[in-house]
Amino acid sequence: MENFNFYSPTEFVFGKGRAAEAGHFVKKYGGSKVLIHYGGGSAVRSGLIDTVKKSLDDAGVAFCELGGVKPNPRDTLVYKGIDMCREEGVDFILAVGGGSVIDSSKAIAIGVPYEGDFWDFYSGKRIEKALPVATVLTIAAAGSEGSGDSVITKEDGMLKRGAGSDHLRPKFSIMDPSLTQTLPAYQTACGATDIMAHVFERYFTNTTEVEITDRLCEAVLITMIKETPRVIAAPDNYQARANIMWAGTVAHTNLCGVGREQDWNSHGIEHELSGLYDVAHGAGLAVIMPAWMEFVHDHNVMRFCQMATRVFGCQMNYEDPEATALEGIRRFRTFLRSIGMPINFEELGAKEEDIPTLVEKFGVGEGTTGGFMKLTAADIAAIYKIAAHASL
Ligand code: NZQ
Ligand code: ZN
Repeated sequence: MENFNFYSPTEFVFGKGRAAEAGHFVKKYGGSKVLIHYGGGSAVRSGLIDTVKKSLDDAGVAFCELGGVKPNPRDTLVYKGIDMCREEGVDFILAVGGGSVIDSSKAIAIGVPYEGDFWDFYSGKRIEKALPVATVLTIAAAGSEGSGDSVITKEDGMLKRGAGSDHLRPKFSIMDPSLTQTLPAYQTACGATDIMAHVFERYFTNTTEVEITDRLCEAVLITMIKETPRVIAAPDNYQARANIMWAGTVAHTNLCGVGREQDWNSHGIEHELSGLYDVAHGAGLAVIMPAWMEFVHDHNVMRFCQMATRVFGCQMNYEDPEATALEGIRRFRTFLRSIGMPINFEELGAKEEDIPTLVEKFGVGEGTTGGFMKLTAADIAAIYKIAAHASL
């Protein structure tokens, strides 16, 4: 195990009906004028925005609001949010929605106290300060409710890039699993896929002697394999929703990743797909992650055997470990298909002829990328190619 710091200062406020406490928590963390930021309308239709507004009124906290965040959130709305916060004297941002709304809120939070273009931070500039951000989460997926990350798409060129800092970790996140019961099955499955991917990005490591984090990762994965089909079959299953929602947070606070080198190539490779085609991040991962696994499995066959046996219940074949590794990957892809995810380019809406563009946008140039197995531009092209043609 390597040395590490673990910093996860967010107060998680979990359970049914907790959104009514938003005002109390905003006050607790020093907000006096709040921007309520939300998406395309699901939070309005469900009555959640009204609940949050009433809670702020009851706590005597002033607010303004900005809706309209799209999935794969855009820089254009971020600029609008920054202007609004400056005009209205906003000192606290409350994201009511999923990863896209939270990430847009984080981008506004960095942009308000910065004189330059907020996009500088998505081009590598170090984040020194931000307005405080908090969340009322409506989908278990990105883990942004507990992470210091934000991913924004620049509309001009559809360039999807991330920024990260502990300044972006939410002050509090209200997590009511019943709010996720209105999700379409497809979005639920996209979220589940993203949660599993956040674990796999950490699970595949070259660091040895990380039993505790291995076992935490496996617990999250096994939970997702058990609970996801239950909520697809019965969307109002509160207990299964609750397990998935907490799994999503545990998967991405980095609790599962400390003390070890991590990979993150699948995310980078996927972000080019959701950037170019504006598809859901989780759906893109369903296509990319098993393809990445197939491409890299012989870098450490025994680690893939560990996944296959401990997570997917495969029998270890000691005479042919590679067969066990590949069976584990096959079961992962089969699981993704069973919850309604696409598994190849055609099902996702991507085109094989765009592979050179995707690789170019990824921008690895002559270098390499990734923590588990270093990949060149040719390797990334090969992974897109596997993903393009994948089948069961
Ligand atoms: O906009 P509305 O109307 O709210 O609809 C949303 C949206 O269409 C809908 N939805 C959300 N909650 C709902 C609901 N519909 C009905 N009932 C509810 N309770 O779901 C759709 C998807 O929402 P979105 O916020 O885009 O989903 P998700 O949480 O998966 O976020 C995806 C974004 O997060 C980024 C992804 O790249 C993508 O841009 N990520 C952020 C990370 C982070 N900040 O740490 C890490 C991740 O790896 C990821 O990259
Ligand atoms: Zn993700």
